[in-house]
Formats: sequence, C-alpha cells, structure tokens
Amino acid sequence: MSDAKPIQEQTLAEQGAATSEGIAALFAEVRARFDAETSRLAAGDLPAWTALRNAWLGRSSGVITAIGDSWLKPAPLDAKRVVGKALNELKAHVERTLEELRARAEAAGEAGTAAGGVDLSLPGLRRALGTRHPICQTLEELERIFLSIGFSVVEGPEIETPYYNFEALNIPEHHPARDTMDTFYLSLPKGSPELLLRTHTSPMQIHTMEQQQPPVRIIVPGRVYRRDNPDSTHSFAFHQIEGLAVDTDITFCEFKGTVEYFVREFLGPKTRTRLRPSYFPFTEPSAEVDASCFACDGKGCRICKQAGWIELFGSGMVDPAVYGFVNYDAKRLSGFAFGMGVERMAMMRYGISDIQLLYQNDVRFLRQFQ
Ligand code: DAH
Repeated sequence: MSDAKPIQEQTLAEQGAATSEGIAALFAEVRARFDAETSRLAAGDLPAWTALRNAWLGRSSGVITAIGDSWLKPAPLDAKRVVGKALNELKAHVERTLEELRARAEAAGEAGTAAGGVDLSLPGLRRALGTRHPICQTLEELERIFLSIGFSVVEGPEIETPYYNFEALNIPEHHPARDTMDTFYLSLPKGSPELLLRTHTSPMQIHTMEQQQPPVRIIVPGRVYRRDNPDSTHSFAFHQIEGLAVDTDITFCEFKGTVEYFVREFLGPKTRTRLRPSYFPFTEPSAEVDASCFACDGKGCRICKQAGWIELFGSGMVDPAVYGFVNYDAKRLSGFAFGMGVERMAMMRYGISDIQLLYQNDVRFLRQFQ
C-alpha cells in the first residue's frame, strides 16, 4: 500500500475495504473531501470552479472516473453492486453541487462586473441610420403623384436594341436627333444583333403598346445612359420617368390638364405652367413644360436666370407614326407622352447645383435629406 497514491486510485482490496461498511466509509471520506473543496470556492471565481469540475468530473483523470477504474472494475462480484450504487450517488451529488455552484458563480460574476467594471450610465453606441437617397425620394414622390391619377408603374430593360431605342420611336438611322443621344454599345461577337444601353425610358412606350391594348396609362421610372462627359449638369448614367397615356378620347386639353396637375402637386399650388413649342420625333405637336420659378414666383432671379420660368421636361401628343410601329389604329386613338429627368427634378426641388453630388455618396451631403 502506498500513501502517495490518492485513495481513489487504490483498489478496495489494497485499502482493506471488503465489507459494505468499509466501502461506505471510503465513499463518505471522498464525499467529505469534495464538500470541503467546494466550500472553499470563492463566489464568482469561474476559473476555480472550472478547475474543480475537471478534477472531479474530468473524463480521463477526474476522481469519479478513477473510482470507477480502481474501485468498481476490479471489485469482486458481490461487492460490485454496492460500489456501483454508492458511486452513482456520489456522482449525482458532485454533479448537482457543481451545477448549483456554477449558477451562483455566474450570477456573482455578472453582478461584480456591473458593480466595478462597466459604468452603466455611459452613453451607448449610436448606430448610424441610413436615409433614402434624394433621387429615390424624388422618384417616389413623382410616382405618388401619377399613381394618384390612375397611372401605373412599369419598368423595362436598360439594355435595348436600336429598334426600340430609336426606330420605333420614329428616329431613323440618320436622323439628327440621334446625335444628342449617343450611347454605349455592347461589344458582342461579330454577327450578333446590335445592343446598346438605352438613352431614355421612351423605348418602354413601344414595349407597353406592343403588349397591351388601350387604354394605356403608365409611367416608367428607370436608369438611362448617354455618352456625355460628367459636369455639373451631365452624367453618363442618370434617371428618367417616362409617361404615356393612350385612349380613344385623349385631347390636347387632357394632356395640358394632367401636366398642370402634376406641376402644382410637385412644386406647390401657386405654381403656373407654360407649354413651349418644341420638337421630338415621337410627339406631334411637342412641347417643353416650364414652371413659374419656385424661388422668385416668376419675377426673375438668379435661379431662373432672370427668365421667371424653369424648364421642367419634354412632352407632346404621341405622333401617329409611332402607332404604326405597334399596330395601334392611329385614326381611332390619341394620347400624350412625357419624359423627365429625375436628377433635374431633385436638383430643382432641393436646390442642388451640381448633379455629381448625387452620385458621390458623401454622407455630409446625404444627411441633409433625412
Ligand atoms: N425621351 C426624351 C429624351 O430623353 C424625353 C421625352 C420627350 C420623352 C418628349 C417623351 C416625350 O415621352 O413626349 O430626351
């Protein structure tokens, strides 16, 4: 018998415990040792608790495993039952006690940090909330106005064929109107049909009329492209909203009324509207819609360049030639169309002087639109 070996590593025979009483006495001794060790554990000392748990319940070298190996396994058959039962009881006691101590240690740990480590009166971390981009806000406002008078929103592809972007809108190959709408062409294998980035949202007029019979009342928000060098009023990618209304009884009067309603909704009830003759290949007659200057109410100022009016967007009655491309009956049908630059509307509304600010996403700029 060696005194250096802890009792849980000595067999019962080595310890001379042959009777039930002897066995019970040995278990009582081990249990007392466990209770003594746990009573010394400081509340909140989680590392000490972990060490204690490993010493008693550790799978390879814990006391419980050692007793199983040294007492239970080599015990004579008749003692096995007694040892097994006592061992189970000891194990349950150890587990239950450790679990209680862990809960207590954790609670004490938290209370300790709150009391000494963290100042709960300090301000929390402020999480920056994003805002909707001014282009988005403007688009939503424009959509709201047209939805309120029976238009619905449709969207279409940014990649188009020259047919939809030009020809079907009555802009043939060598028409000078194409010069103002130079764009980016996709580089495709030789022999593929030509594709380009749309220069306006007008191609959706054609797609829509191909797909549905009148009455048509749609607006088309979307991104468009031009081969323009960036400056304070130009960008190679920007946004438009197209509008199209076609029915059997749409007159110039209805066109004007719709435009005036829109301008008053968007710029305020006192705003006046002016239609100025213009030219677009797909409308006849065509008009630029001007609004009385929101800054000086028409008297003339720096913003309207002393004109009293600000140009808003292009529009007109749909040219009957366009109906020919979509198999609409030009004799029976009439309608109007318009196309406005969303950036232009946003810049006017918020007094932004440089279009590039809308694309740089500088938070100092964006924060102003909360
Ligand atoms: N698509 C034209 C452009 O980008 C704008 C436009 C003008 C659209 C008149 C229209 C319209 O629908 O009727 O310059």
